[in-house]
Amino acid sequence: MPQTRTILGIESSCDDTAAAILRGTPEQADILSNTVFTQTQAHAAFGGIVPEIAARAHAEKIDIVVEQSLIAANVTLADIDAIAVTAGPGLIGGVLSGVMCAKGLAAATGTPLIGVNHLAGHALTPQLTNRIAFPYLMLLVSGGHCQFLLVEGPDTYTRLGGTIDDAPGEAFDKTARILGLPQPGGPSVEHEAKTGHPDAYALPRPLLNRDDCNMSFSGLKTAILRARDDVVSQHGGLPRQARADLCASFQSAITDVLTHKSRRALVAARAINPDVQVFAVAGGVAANTAIRTALQELCAETETDFVAPPMALCTDNAAMIAFVGLHKLSSGQTDDLSLTARPRWPLDQISPTLLGSGKKGAKA
Ligand code: KG4
Ligand code: ZN
Repeated sequence: MPQTRTILGIESSCDDTAAAILRGTPEQADILSNTVFTQTQAHAAFGGIVPEIAARAHAEKIDIVVEQSLIAANVTLADIDAIAVTAGPGLIGGVLSGVMCAKGLAAATGTPLIGVNHLAGHALTPQLTNRIAFPYLMLLVSGGHCQFLLVEGPDTYTRLGGTIDDAPGEAFDKTARILGLPQPGGPSVEHEAKTGHPDAYALPRPLLNRDDCNMSFSGLKTAILRARDDVVSQHGGLPRQARADLCASFQSAITDVLTHKSRRALVAARAINPDVQVFAVAGGVAANTAIRTALQELCAETETDFVAPPMALCTDNAAMIAFVGLHKLSSGQTDDLSLTARPRWPLDQISPTLLGSGKKGAKA
């Protein structure tokens, strides 16, 4: 019977400064607190994440967020069995803030320190929230990530493919900017798409016919830009209906690519491990109803169980980092104070490096 442990998780790899307390075993863990300070407002004026602003904001907030998570969980540092911190991949300044904070706490209290791969946090979340067993296929799809992972164990990941340039959330955000819609672009483009026709504009579906699980989304924003410019030169402005049609056509292109490549990824995952029964999605873009519905339909058709963790745990948070820490502590994997930040840190060492980095920094 595994021992019950209490873990402090710290996450600061992108634009959220987060801390959480988790208690339990790898089989059953409870989130005692999950505190997130988001920097969305600080970056809003710049149309993307500014690494220097992010690093400063993390440094300012990291101690506060840790303190708040301890208070919210009604525990003290003396109750903590290990400190798990995101050591990469991500923006170097942010990752360093978290690692320095965790090291300081570990050195001062003598508590074991565990460096965690941020992607492992996302990849193990369906276990934390839905208690699903290995193996499963995971699609991480957000503003900074887009990859298919076959998850066979807490340390066994195979990346089956991913974006070679922009992440889909990034494409939603850029499309919103081009069409004059508010950020974050995902929800505003989705809202606008409801009144548009998905076939109004023929937008590209790159790499669709290639027999692999890689994707490309950067050409879509260029296509949207051209289509918008054509409409504007014809009408002297962007009529409401044209904007809705562009949003619906864009959303339909992204949905087609993700669904098509998910179908391939399921086949590829099962070729490696025939026991894959679950397809899990995480990341902000998984909130999109059209995309989620299409993926659910694909699962129904291929007799696969569909799992999507609750939104607060799908996006960046520290509970997922604490959960990876719990797994590592249970198998005796801790780090010493020489732990360093790794801005690039692929989960799966054997897959070739993907070219794309996404607006939120290099992800693998
Ligand atoms: O996972 P997340 O909160 O942060 C990271 O990227 O790490 O994802 C944010 C991204 C943004 O690009 C946002 O536009 C997108 O997820 N997003 C959506 C929707 N809600 C958020 N994209 C499409 N449809 C949505 N409803
Ligand atoms: Zn993330």
